[in-house]
Amino acid sequence: MTMTYDSAKAAPAADGALIRAQQVSKSFELPDGNGIFTVLENVSLSVQPGEIVALLGRSGSGKSTLLRILAGLIPASSGEVLSSGRHVTAPNPDVAMVFQSFALLPWLTVQQNVELGLEAIGVPMKERQARALKAIDMVGLDGFESAYPKELSGGMRQRVGFARAFVKQPRVLFMDEPFSALDVLTAENLRGEISDLWERGNFPAQSVLIVTHNIEEAVYLADRVIILGANPGRVRGEVKIDLPRPRDRAARRFKELVDGIYIAMTNPDRDVSAAMAGIPPRRETPYPPLPHATVGGISGLLELLHERPELRDLPEISSTLQLPTDDLLPIVDASVMLGLAEVKQGDIALTEAGRAFATADVQSSKDIFRTQVLERIPTVKMIYTTLKEKPNGSMRAGFFLDILDEHYPRDEAQRQFETAVDWGRYAELFEYDRSEDRLLLPVEMSELTE
Ligand SMILES: Nc1ncnc2c1ncn2[C@@H]1O[C@H](COP(=O)(O)OP(=O)(O)OP(=O)(O)O)[C@@H](O)[C@H]1O
Ligand SMILES: [Mg+2]
Repeated sequence: MTMTYDSAKAAPAADGALIRAQQVSKSFELPDGNGIFTVLENVSLSVQPGEIVALLGRSGSGKSTLLRILAGLIPASSGEVLSSGRHVTAPNPDVAMVFQSFALLPWLTVQQNVELGLEAIGVPMKERQARALKAIDMVGLDGFESAYPKELSGGMRQRVGFARAFVKQPRVLFMDEPFSALDVLTAENLRGEISDLWERGNFPAQSVLIVTHNIEEAVYLADRVIILGANPGRVRGEVKIDLPRPRDRAARRFKELVDGIYIAMTNPDRDVSAAMAGIPPRRETPYPPLPHATVGGISGLLELLHERPELRDLPEISSTLQLPTDDLLPIVDASVMLGLAEVKQGDIALTEAGRAFATADVQSSKDIFRTQVLERIPTVKMIYTTLKEKPNGSMRAGFFLDILDEHYPRDEAQRQFETAVDWGRYAELFEYDRSEDRLLLPVEMSELTE
């Protein structure tokens, strides 16, 4: 294989991009002189050091063709490809590729398959072997060095595919739908492992360009998703994935991004950013979630903090109370939300209101609690003010559940309601009549309002 770069044509003012496509178009001649077929039209994009970019497009949008052009495997019809500022005119040695179909040579062992690419560029045998072993280890195939592809499962074959690319220590790793030929679970495992390697900083490439038509996969892996349109393939827009790693598919923002991209993909005529902006914005609930702690638990903690002022460290408190941390935390959160305690760097302390609460007699404690609740807990306040509006000072519990249902899943709405009722009753803002399933103002109060 000959030199890849035409360094004489080095681009001026390289911008640091590892790969850059400038106005790349690609057409194929139709058979029998029936004209030309344009696969890609004026595609411009870049891959910067340290990022994972996903190219998302439907089947036929020219994703694989674009990767091949960027890797220098086939020429563009017009436009240019730069690799670290240099024009790409032949296979680019800064790039290694993982294919959808594993493309292993069946007559070679795992080790030989992995070494193949190094042999081609003249790496001496000893180094080749050492690097291959390391790459095989990295993909979890330790012990399978002398196995043949036919002895391996699909997932293991694709691991060899990854090892074969890793061993080249490319600047940019290209992956063309690397998980799409695997069953769902195998794909999920492998995707997770790749993402772990990236997060741990052990990744054998500076950047990744992955082609996929799986929106979740793109949002799970990428820092940036470039959305391609079809007929002809072109860049429709890009979406920055502003999610911390490791990524949590259950996170609200994750789902928002997936939904937004889905809307963009299913509305090819819409502007991508407009489609993304069309996602319903994160709704700030007027009823922030109450930590599920009972007043009993809260006052227990506050009293302990008062009696044992040297106890500040949360883990220590959890062992003193013989409460698992998971059970202590909602109580701590509730105390903080109520303004009765504050937490700084893992230490908890009473606020002034908290100290007053802990030292007062029962009725005064209730008064303090009522003040805090009305000031700081919108759910309880909403229930109370609604009841006050009613001439009979009473309302079906279902009414409040319906309100909370708009902001929480069913079970959680129920739990939010129960916690709010527990706090409101202690504060003597309202009563709960279980047999009628109604909330009502305490007797004296409803008398007062009449
Ligand atoms: N060498 C070629 N000659 C003629 N047409 C080609 C050639 N290579 C690709 N095409 C056409 O270009 C279009 C895009 O193909 P490409 O494989 O790049 O799409 P893709 O986005 O990777 O699709 P998929 O998601 O199915 O992998 C297809 O219509 C394909 O038939
Ligand atoms: Mg393809």
